[in-house]
Order: sequence, then C-alpha cells, then structure tokens
Amino acid sequence: MAVLVTGGAGYIGSHTVVELLEKNEEVVVLDNLKKGHKQAVLGGKFYHGDLRDDQFLDKVFKENDIEAVVHFAAYSLVGESVINPADYYNNNVVSTLRLLTKMKDSGVKKIVFSSTAATYGEPESIPIQEDDKTAPTNPYGETKLAVEKALRWFDSAYDMKYVSLRYFNAAGAHTSGKIGEDHNPETHLIPIIMQVATGRRDKVQVFGDDYNTPDGTCIRDYIHVTDLANAHIAALERLRAGEESGIYNLGNGKGFSVKEVLTTVEEVVGRKINYEIAPRRPGDPAMLVASSEKIMKELRWNPKFNKLETIVETAWKWHSEHPNGFEK
Ligand code: UFG
Repeated sequence: MAVLVTGGAGYIGSHTVVELLEKNEEVVVLDNLKKGHKQAVLGGKFYHGDLRDDQFLDKVFKENDIEAVVHFAAYSLVGESVINPADYYNNNVVSTLRLLTKMKDSGVKKIVFSSTAATYGEPESIPIQEDDKTAPTNPYGETKLAVEKALRWFDSAYDMKYVSLRYFNAAGAHTSGKIGEDHNPETHLIPIIMQVATGRRDKVQVFGDDYNTPDGTCIRDYIHVTDLANAHIAALERLRAGEESGIYNLGNGKGFSVKEVLTTVEEVVGRKINYEIAPRRPGDPAMLVASSEKIMKELRWNPKFNKLETIVETAWKWHSEHPNGFEK
C-alpha cells in the first residue's frame, strides 16, 4: 500500500519523500508545481495536478492503493496571505476539504497534516505548549487552524485519524546537497542570508531591532528539515499503531535572534554578511519558541540537528552548490 504525499515537490514535502523512500515505503507524490519543483522529487510515482480537480484526484486514488496521506500542499507565506486571503482560503482550505472528502469516500483513514506555529498568533508564554491559546494574526495561520478543526470533526464522524504537526522555522537542507530550499520570491531569513553570501543580493534587511528581546531582534526556533521529515514518519507510525489523533509542536525548543543567525552564518561561510536595520515586518511576533516535549515523549521523536551551526552548514552546502536553486 502507498503513502500519498501531497505537495511532495515542495521544500518540506521533498525531504519527507526522501525519508519515506529510505524506509522502503511505496510513495505517490502529487503536486501542482505552482511553488514546488519537479527536480526536488527524488523518487516515487509522480502526479502533476491540483487537489481541486476532481477527475485528477479520482485518477490518483483509483490508480493507487493508498493507505495514508501526508498532506503538505498549501501556500505558506504569512505576508502574502494578508494581501491575498482569497487564494489562501482556496488553496489551503478548499483543497484540503476536497482531499479529506475523497479520503472519506475511499476509506483512507490516516492523515499527517502540515500545520504551523502561526496557529498560535502572538504567544502568551514561552515555550509554546500545544494547549496554549490559538489566535492566528494572519490568514495563513487561520487556514491551517481551520483545517485542524475540520480534522477533529472528520475524526469524530468518520473515524479518520490525524496527526497535525505545528512547525516552527524549517531550515537547512538534505545532507547530500541534492535538495534544499528554493522559493520564489524568497522571504525566509536563512536563504536570504545565503543569497547575500553567494552574491545574489547585496544585503539582508533585519526587520526591527527594537523588540523586547536581548538584542532587540526577533527570536525564532529553527528546526532542520530532515528532522521535520522524520517527525512525519513517526506520526505515520503512530497512526498505524492505532493510536488516537493528536497535535504536536515541532521545534528544537531553543530560540535564536536574527542577529545570532547572521553571526552563525558568517562563521559557517567564513564571510562578512552585509546587513541593514529596517522597519519591523507587520505580523512578526517578537519570539516563537516551541515546547517539543509532547512529540518527544509520545512519538519518541528526537532532533538530530539540534545545533544552529549544523543546520546552517547543510543550508550552505545546498546554496553554495545551487546558487540559482533548482534552475540550471
Ligand atoms: N527576517 C528578517 N529579514 C528578512 C527575512 C526575515 O529580519 O529578510 C526575520 C523575520 O522578521 C523573523 C525571522 O527573520 O523575525 C524569521 O523570518 P522568516 O520569514 O524566515 O520566518 P517566519 O518566522 O516569518 O515564518 C515562520 C514560518 C511560517 C510561520 C511563521 C509563524 O516559516 O510558516 O513562522 O510566525 F507561519
């Protein structure tokens, strides 16, 4: 039986496909390639299409004996979601409801869902726990929270079991250097710093140095993409063992400021990174750090890349060898 990976050509999806293949899983990848890259899919059976295309979805479910779904396909930029909520609700909520309905109709009862720290909004306390208040401050977080709520009701009505993983800041690249982060436009901190290091950009803008943090810049919890990928496999195993549904944070439990990230990159790449202080970016909480105790305890997940330096080293291998991303 196969595991269907939606959005398997994206950054986190493609790294998860690699880990699933290493575990000898039969993998079916579905991606509309709006944001993903076909070259990032290193194996499995690939389908190019959209979850909102009923005929296409029928075909994927008819041609494969799908046991479980790992659902990444979504838009994921906070700023873009504020400007264009219609696209975010459509692509993240409508698409997922089509997928869940198809799963229900086909008797597929296991799903691992890609959720986000953005479901919490401005945290009330640090580290953030799974039962803390969820009050998203942007449409991206709202769409992911809407899906989490739908999952709960699909579980109670149709016995569809889910694990929802609330990622903090995904970073780094596969140690092989074959796949890594490539967004267009790029908005994430580490790839932007890498673009300065490889000469594709002159400088990084540090969005605000007047936050209530030790150096005034925002603090985030960076987690390696392969550690994230392996959490999906642990989640799948939990569902296969017949355990209850659950929601888990996924982070390293340690925060780094924007300036600390800049210094770490400088040390790893051995170059000075040019930066300037810019205004705050709307919607950025000062500090987001996960408590990942629940996933460590219940899913026996443990991050292998728990040093920022190692995460940055893997990112640098990818960016220095592929300064134009997947483009030749
Ligand atoms: N930053 C800069 N300059 C840049 C880019 C980012 O200073 O050019 C700062 C941001 O202000 C932020 C930190 O670097 O403080 C990290 O920013 P990213 O854009 O890399 O990541 P975010 O923390 O904004 O986003 C992450 C996830 C989202 C999730 C969000 C929750 O990628 O999926 O956390 O707030 F929704």
